[in-house]
Amino acid sequence: MIDKDVIVACDFPSAEETYKFLDLFTDTKPYVKIGMELYYAEGPKVVSEIKARGHKIFLDLKLHDIPNTVAHAASQLAKLGVDMTNVHCAGGAKMMAAAKATLEGSSTKLIAVTQLTSTSEEVMHEELLLDNSKTIKEVVINYAQNAKDAGLDGVVCSPLEAGEIKKSIGDEFLTITPGIRFADDAKGDQVRVTTPADAKASSDFIVVGRSITAASDPVAAYNRCVQDFLGE
Ligand code: C5P
Repeated sequence: MIDKDVIVACDFPSAEETYKFLDLFTDTKPYVKIGMELYYAEGPKVVSEIKARGHKIFLDLKLHDIPNTVAHAASQLAKLGVDMTNVHCAGGAKMMAAAKATLEGSSTKLIAVTQLTSTSEEVMHEELLLDNSKTIKEVVINYAQNAKDAGLDGVVCSPLEAGEIKKSIGDEFLTITPGIRFADDAKGDQVRVTTPADAKASSDFIVVGRSITAASDPVAAYNRCVQDFLGE
């Protein structure tokens, strides 16, 4: 069974600010996403420290390079003992399979980013020149199928596509969905967004950043997310 959860995107510039934020949580240990900003600033040490504080970790570095390079990078990340890490589907099936092969025997789940939730269909067609006859949903489902065929555990996708992915690829294939906002929040740079309650039907993990980290009461915002996403 999938242990659904709310993952908090700790997009902070330093370990100090991250710990200050995490210290607000006295009763719970939220699942934490460490992204490029924090990892590039602080390196692997911040991962071990947050892990030692008792949090599960999704290390979101979105690897995308030739298969050999990505495979070696992924094996370094797995050594950190993170629960989940990721690559880009756009790197191709060989790259995804090579990364997965180096994680054999480790408990780190490998997922792949389909289309960034900040990318609109217009950008996909007119800027990226991805096949004009295909909708963003079709591209995302094709990427997700490639990830499944390469042996990956799931994908990062918009909550608006998670249902279709589950339908065509299977319930056990994980859907991790950023682009989450409360109905009363600003969207920021995200284009394809939904609420924690609406994500409930087909997302296994929601990734929430600014709606929690920038809230006046982050713990209350986190609890609201948990209630809306996991509550009855
Ligand atoms: O602040 P916000 O809730 O928009 O943060 C979303 C987080 O999810 C960010 O850390 C962003 O890098 C990440 N993400 C995303 N879209 C993807 C993959 C990851 O927004 N497709």
